Amino acid sequence: MDTSTDVLAEQVRAKRTAIDNDLELLRVRVAQADPRQNLTPQRVAQVAAPLAAGAALWMWARRRRAVGSLEQLLVHTMGDLYRAEHTLVPALERMQLAATNPDLASAFENHRQETEGHIERLERAFRSIGAKPKRGASEAVASIVAEGERLLRRKVEPDVRDAWLIATAQRAEHLEIAGYGTARTFAQTLGYTYAAGLLQETLEEERATDEKLSRLAELFVNPQSIR
Ligand SMILES: [Fe+2]
Repeated sequence: MDTSTDVLAEQVRAKRTAIDNDLELLRVRVAQADPRQNLTPQRVAQVAAPLAAGAALWMWARRRRAVGSLEQLLVHTMGDLYRAEHTLVPALERMQLAATNPDLASAFENHRQETEGHIERLERAFRSIGAKPKRGASEAVASIVAEGERLLRRKVEPDVRDAWLIATAQRAEHLEIAGYGTARTFAQTLGYTYAAGLLQETLEEERATDEKLSRLAELFVNPQSIR
């Protein structure tokens, strides 16, 4: 009796061990099928570390791109100004020849010389920020000048001609004033103090020329002939 009881107890223990093994095997398989069951602190750290590094890299690259784009805008704006000044030099020569009033002709000649200085100043500003200007014509300035010269091909009164020349020159000046103001602010924001100073110098000269042209227009343009 005792012997049969022992055998039965042994059989029950064996069966229980087999069931426990099956349950453990099942638990392991369920854990493998569902990754959430594997979220131990070590596993979380393994997964999260590269994600955090990736996010930090993305944010760094984004900041770099943002700064880079402001630099690109500065170079682009300075490039526009460089082409505008190059387009203006021969245009101012033609304006000087077209002007009937000697004071106006002399103002155009002075500004042509100043414009050559603006080109040289822009080249220095480019060098100081480690960039190079590209030569070429400014479509915006060329279009203003072309429109001005189209009217001058007609037969017009001398005062009207001079008034129109002033209006044409001032349109180009206003374009430059806006461009130099923008470039100066970009340069200041980026910490390019030397370039910002050069752009500010030219901005002041452009403003002075604009005011001079306004004074000339008020002084000698005869309202009778304009009407
Ligand atoms: Fe200029």
